[in-house]
Amino acid sequence: MDNTILINAHSILRWAVLLFGIYAITKSAQGVFMKQSFTASHSMAGTLLVASVHLQIVIGLLLYIARDWHQSFGNMAETMGNPALRFWAVEHLTGMLVAAIIIQIGRSRSKKAKETTAKHKTALIFYTIGILLIVAMIPWPFRAEVARSLWP
Ligand code: HEM
Repeated sequence: MDNTILINAHSILRWAVLLFGIYAITKSAQGVFMKQSFTASHSMAGTLLVASVHLQIVIGLLLYIARDWHQSFGNMAETMGNPALRFWAVEHLTGMLVAAIIIQIGRSRSKKAKETTAKHKTALIFYTIGILLIVAMIPWPFRAEVARSLWP
């Protein structure tokens, strides 16, 4: 598959992840602070977030292989010594995977919790941490030091 298609899909899907993240955080915050019962819409908010993150991870991994980033492990000293190389070869990959795991753990713990407040609280804490990590690991246009344009 053409890399451009993957990069565009990955770039656009970031907005779905962020929107579903804000939605799931808002729903769980409402659940906690307005003492709502845990409804199908609260559950759906978590499902949409997890699904969009999973899809983003799959596209990201395909892109990682297609763009040969795994080859940078062959020269670890150079990779770790260069901030832009390190960001793409290591930090973006691990940061996003950890964020996905945190969100996934939050979803299953929230599902398993017996008490309504515990369900909302667990979702709120884990989704917030996961989304903050994702925001921190996105190569925003203002982060010139990790710009994709640095690479062929
Ligand atoms: C929720 C998770 C993720 C988000 C929100 C995200 C977001 C982004 C964004 C916004 C870009 C820049 C696209 C552009 O410049 O138009 C990008 C590039 C990229 N991402 Fe992710 N990403 C995520 C997870 C991952 C994962 C798990 C991998 C796996 C290794 C990955 C690998 C890549 C690669 C290889 C590039 C392109 C770098 C290059 O130009 O070679 N991403 N990502």
